Amino acid sequence: MDYISENYNFKGKTVAVTGSSRGLGKEIALAFARAGANLVLASRSIDKLEQIAEDIKSSGSKALPLEVDVRVKKSVEAFVEKACAEFGRIDILINNAGVIYRAPATELSEEQWDETIAINLKGTFLCSQAVGRSMVENRAGKIISIASDKAFVGFPGRVAYCASKGGIVMLTKALAVEWAPFNVQVNAVAPTYVETEMTRDILNDPEKYQEIIKAIPMNRVSKPDELFGAIMLLASDASSFITGHTLMVDGGLTAW
Ligand SMILES: NC(=O)c1ccc[n+]([C@@H]2O[C@H](COP(=O)([O-])OP(=O)(O)OC[C@H]3O[C@@H](n4cnc5c(N)ncnc54)[C@H](OP(=O)(O)O)[C@@H]3O)[C@@H](O)[C@H]2O)c1
Repeated sequence: MDYISENYNFKGKTVAVTGSSRGLGKEIALAFARAGANLVLASRSIDKLEQIAEDIKSSGSKALPLEVDVRVKKSVEAFVEKACAEFGRIDILINNAGVIYRAPATELSEEQWDETIAINLKGTFLCSQAVGRSMVENRAGKIISIASDKAFVGFPGRVAYCASKGGIVMLTKALAVEWAPFNVQVNAVAPTYVETEMTRDILNDPEKYQEIIKAIPMNRVSKPDELFGAIMLLASDASSFITGHTLMVDGGLTAW
C-alpha cells in the first residue's frame, strides 16, 4: 500500500458524530460513510437519524442511529455503551453538536447562556469523557471537536457562543496532554461561516452577507465539504503526532 491508502483509510473504523441529524454533522457523517467507515449517528432527533442511517446502509456502509442529549451524562453514557455494543469500539469521535443564540450581551438571558455552555462545552466534555475512557483503555483513538473562528476573535452579539467555543479550544489542549501517553489524539477544527441551517437566515440577508465576507480574506463563506479535508486529516493515521491543535478553516479570517 502507498502512503495515502495506508494512512487515509477509514474502512472498518467506527466514527461517532454528534449532532448528525442535519447541517455539518450530517455531511461529515455521510463523508465518512463514503470513505467506508461504520457510522454512529447521534442527536435528539431519532426520526431524522433513522432516515440518514437508511440512506447510508443502502449505499453499503453500516450505520447506527442513536438518540442522545449531549447535555445529560446518563444519555451520553447510554449512547456510547450502545455504540460499543454494536461495533466493539468507537475509533473516532466528532463532537459537532452545537447551538448559537444571537443577542447583545446586555440582553442574553441566563437560560440562553446556560444552554449554550451546556450543549457546546459541557456536551463536548461529556462525550469526550465517555468515549475517551474506552479509547484510553484501548490505547487508540481520535477526538475532533468543532470549535469556531469565534473561539479566537470576539464577535458582537455572540458572547456565550464565543466563550463556549474558546472553552473547546482549551478543553482540546487539556485532554490532549492528559491522553497523549495513551495514544489518544484530541484536536479541533475551527470553521468560519458554513452554509447550514444554523446560518441560513443570516447568510440569506444580502447586507449581513456582505458584512460577513468583508471580514474573510477569501471573500466568501465555506461550504460543508470544505471542512472534510481538515477533519479527515485529524481523524486519519496521517495525524499520528498531531494533538492539542485547533486547525483553522476560515478563509484567512484569523490571519489578518
Ligand atoms: N454553520 C456555521 O457557520 C458554523 C461555523 C462554525 C462552527 N460551527 C459549528 O459546527 C457545528 C454544527 O453546526 P451546524 O451549522 O451544522 O448547526 P445546525 O444545523 O444547527 O445543527 C446542529 C446539530 O446539533 C445537534 N444538537 C443540538 N443540541 C443538541 C443536544 N443537546 N444533544 C445532541 N445534539 C444536539 C442538532 O441535532 P438535534 O436538534 O437533532 O438534537 C443538530 O444536528 C456546531 O458545533 C457549530 O457551532 C458552525
